[in-house]
This record gives sequence, structure tokens and C-alpha cells, in this order.
Amino acid sequence: MRSEFSNMVLLSDMVRRERSSCIPSSYVWPKNERPNLLEMESSDVSIPLIDLHEMDDHQHSLVVKAIGEACKSGGFFMVKNHGIPETVLSEMLRISKEYFKLPECERMKAYSDDPKKTMRLSTSCNVKTEKVASWRDYLRLHCYPLKDFIHQWPSHPHSFREIVGEYCKRVRELALKLLEAISESLGREKKYIEEALGKQGQHMAINYYPPCPQPDLTFGLPGHHDPNAITILLQDTVPGLQVLRNGKWLAVDPLPNTLIINIGNQIEVLSNGRYKSVLHRAIVNKDNERISVATFYCPSYDAVIEPARELVDEEHPSITKTFTYGEYYDQFWTLDLQFESCLDLFKV
Ligand code: OGA
Ligand code: NI
Repeated sequence: MRSEFSNMVLLSDMVRRERSSCIPSSYVWPKNERPNLLEMESSDVSIPLIDLHEMDDHQHSLVVKAIGEACKSGGFFMVKNHGIPETVLSEMLRISKEYFKLPECERMKAYSDDPKKTMRLSTSCNVKTEKVASWRDYLRLHCYPLKDFIHQWPSHPHSFREIVGEYCKRVRELALKLLEAISESLGREKKYIEEALGKQGQHMAINYYPPCPQPDLTFGLPGHHDPNAITILLQDTVPGLQVLRNGKWLAVDPLPNTLIINIGNQIEVLSNGRYKSVLHRAIVNKDNERISVATFYCPSYDAVIEPARELVDEEHPSITKTFTYGEYYDQFWTLDLQFESCLDLFKV
């Protein structure tokens, strides 16, 4: 689709080599689709910040309620006191940055544009389907069950597997805790969502956004919905994430030691549309590279997904037909996500 990629391959290497003040035309988005900073929500509002420390004591039901409200109103919230030690977060960011600084020949061993690969380094979003490129490289790893995948991961930098493996285990614990709270907030038993996800899966995208000489012409990631159940995002200190709220883009700037949580398409389905998977995007900037680490907690391929029976009635008919996550996920990678929503294909 885009010929530059056949010889250029990774964006980070092109940026380092060329040091150009203009971006290649393949990255320039049509005028009416570019990030428009004038449409931005004012910067003194943000998504809810929820303290999970209070989840383990008598405040439990209040935290569950706050999570439910955040899922219903905006599909995004931040958490603090989430139980993952500060050093686990900072090491994860440090090793990610180090990975993207490895020599090109070392990183290229992992390069693939085949979304079926369980470990791959790639660029933009989906080079096979997209018409315009995004200013991003990313390393995608499958992470659960860890023992099935960790041996496929990069062996450089030296402690990559150990540090990322530890982060994955901790994030899974947090994901399960959040899924319990979300199930309870829907009036279901604690294990409802976890069980609906079958044997479950956990994928990770380590996103690397190089500095961009013309950030107003392109995206790090264009607006999209996450296809999985729930996403846990760790970002470094450089802003870039934006979330659609009331028709305007809201910047979610980094707060130390917090993680960003958002509802993906599968919880939208399980909740029969009560909770929404909300559009979000990443913009880039002139001066700083940015790293973010997205953990996608998802159903296993064979899990059968449908709205919870208790949330379906005459007034609230089922929003989708029944499908397996495998069917959904295969469709997801065939779409140009800027223009097509995968969920629409499964609606009744
Ligand atoms: C994603 C995502 C946002 C960011 O990887 O799905 O939305 O800020 N990332 O990198
Ligand atoms: Ni996303």
C-alpha cells in the first residue's frame, strides 16, 4: 500500500538517519482528519482518578461505584495505589526505552507485519490495511500464560525478559482486580467477566513515538477503540494520549505512579452497551520521544462473547450477536480502523 515502507521499515531508524524538517507524504493525514488542537477540551479537566487502596477495606463498595460510574460516563479512568511497586513501573519504562535504542540490525530480527505473530516489532498501525501512516513503532508481545511466550521475547537488552515478565505478572493481578470490581458494578458476581473471558489472554504493545518535525500533520495513533476487554496503560512523562469526551478531545497528561484504564469492545458487549469503549488517540510532538506501554487483557480466542443475560431485557435488547473472540479479532486486523468500527460488524 505504501511503497516507502518496503525499504524504510522502521520509523525510528528513518528519523535518526534523515533528521528532516518535513515528514514523508505517507504520514500526512488529509486536512480534515488531522489533530485539531482547537477542538481540545480545556486542560483543567481530566478523567476520574480512583484510589484503589480503599478497595481492600470498608470503602470497597464506594470504589466499585466510582469505577462503575467512570466506565459508564467516559470509559476511561486513572488508578493510584494500584499495588504495582514504583520500581516495577520505572524499570518497565527504562527497559522499553533501551530496547528502542538497540542497533537497527538487532531490533529488525523481530520485525513482522503479520498480526498473527505472537511476538513482533512493527510500525505505524497496520501497514497492510491503512492508507496513511502513523508516527509510531511498536513491539507487540503475548504475555499470558507467561511460560508459553517469554522465550520468544527479545533477549536484548540483557534483562528485558525478567523486567517485562515481572511487569506482566503484576499487571495481570491488577487487571483481575479491576474485572472483579467492574463485574460487581454491573450487579454481577465478582468472577463474571473473568469467566466470560475463558482461559484469557494478555497482550502488550510497547509504543515508541519518535519526535516529529510536523506533529500537526500526523498522529502517533489515530482515533480507535481497543478491541480487547480492558486496557491498562503506562506512560512516561511526555503527554500524548487524548480521549474523546462530549465530542471534544481531552488530553490525559501523565501523573507519576498512576495507570490509565479503559474499557475495550468486549466489556462494551458483556455489559450490553452500559459501558462504552471510547475513542482515543495519541498525538506526537516536536521535541520529545514518548514511550507508552499498553496491556490488553482479553478473552481467549475460543471464548464465546455475548451480553450478560441479566442485562438483556425488552427495554435493553442484546446489542450484538454471539461471536467468538477469535472471529472478532481476525476481523479487527482486516479493517482500516480510522474509518471502520469492528463492533459495528457484530451488531444486530
Ligand atoms: C493503544 C493506545 C495510547 C498511547 O496502544 O491502544 O491507545 O498513549 N495507546 O500510546
Ligand atoms: Ni488504544
